[in-house]
Amino acid sequence: MKEIRPINWTGSRLELLDQTRLPHEQVTVNISDYRVAAAAITDMRVRGAPAIGVTAAYAMVLAAAELQSRERDHYIGSLRQAGSQIAAARPTAVNLGWAVRRMLRVAEAEPDPGSILPKLEAEARRIQAEDEEINRRIGEHGRVLMPQDGEGVLTHCNTGALATSAFGTALGVIRAGWEKGGRFRVYNTETRPWLQGARLTSWEFQQLGIPATLIADSAAGMMMLNGDISCVITGADRIAANGDTANKIGTYALSVLAHENGIPFYIAAPTSTVDLSVTDGSGIKIEERPQHEVTAYGGMPVAPSGTVAYNPAFDVTPNRYITAIVTEAAVCRPPFDDSLRRAVDAA
Ligand code: MRU
Repeated sequence: MKEIRPINWTGSRLELLDQTRLPHEQVTVNISDYRVAAAAITDMRVRGAPAIGVTAAYAMVLAAAELQSRERDHYIGSLRQAGSQIAAARPTAVNLGWAVRRMLRVAEAEPDPGSILPKLEAEARRIQAEDEEINRRIGEHGRVLMPQDGEGVLTHCNTGALATSAFGTALGVIRAGWEKGGRFRVYNTETRPWLQGARLTSWEFQQLGIPATLIADSAAGMMMLNGDISCVITGADRIAANGDTANKIGTYALSVLAHENGIPFYIAAPTSTVDLSVTDGSGIKIEERPQHEVTAYGGMPVAPSGTVAYNPAFDVTPNRYITAIVTEAAVCRPPFDDSLRRAVDAA
């Protein structure tokens, strides 16, 4: 199947496939300033938890190139400051802070300031390569959970190559199932208000040659009741130690509907998305995005001028609605406190 790689490092600058322009245009943005990379994350030119982690790692390389100094303590201090700025670009996905911390650890362990930049570049490349490999392992673990031929799987938001280095998490599980010859039906929600599903997931399925049917978010309940959906699989932005999972707004509603209709509800995510420092979902900060993402689309108002909108980008699905969490190490089942900790240790 065709490989989509949204993030490319040239050796001196970062090239991102601009996800605000898809599916109508495939435009690459060239970035050589870490502040611009952080802004690209905030503005969602690149999005999806693993992809923003990889972008943050390369942003740290750009910062190191700009802030280089023979004076090691000063250099490390400047890198920490840049790292805080990059990590603050979006608050919910743990991968962002995780990548920045991993990069800072490499810089802090290097005694020779002249070697920090090449070490950081190697580490960022490693994070990107590992992500693709991890996603393929998630696909291998998860594909057996996909439904029988002719039955339906529903996914939400975009969790494919565009949201990662390549291959994807929940979308990667669907892809792995299809690559092994499964011929189940695929449904994807449009994912209001930013339309990651309609704009990005539908495009990715077309690129992969996997037939998929787009539904309005609000059609999911009726389809589950009618027996069209045999399982639901989504990604995650942060998974608490007890399995409570933050993901794209609307995920919680899908999990409750799945529970009501006796349908398995799966999460697919790398162990780097598990945040063992957060006990449960109440400790996860939910990003609130600008009102205009709800009141307008593509610059065109969809609500009367003066309409007040509330735009939480994520919600938290309580662990009791989650059948299993597929990671690169294992398929984790309840009780998640135990199974997730073991997966993190094994990864
Ligand atoms: O706001 P987004 O588009 O960054 O939200 C993305 C999601 O919620 C994904 O499901 C999650 O990051 C997992 S991506 C593999």
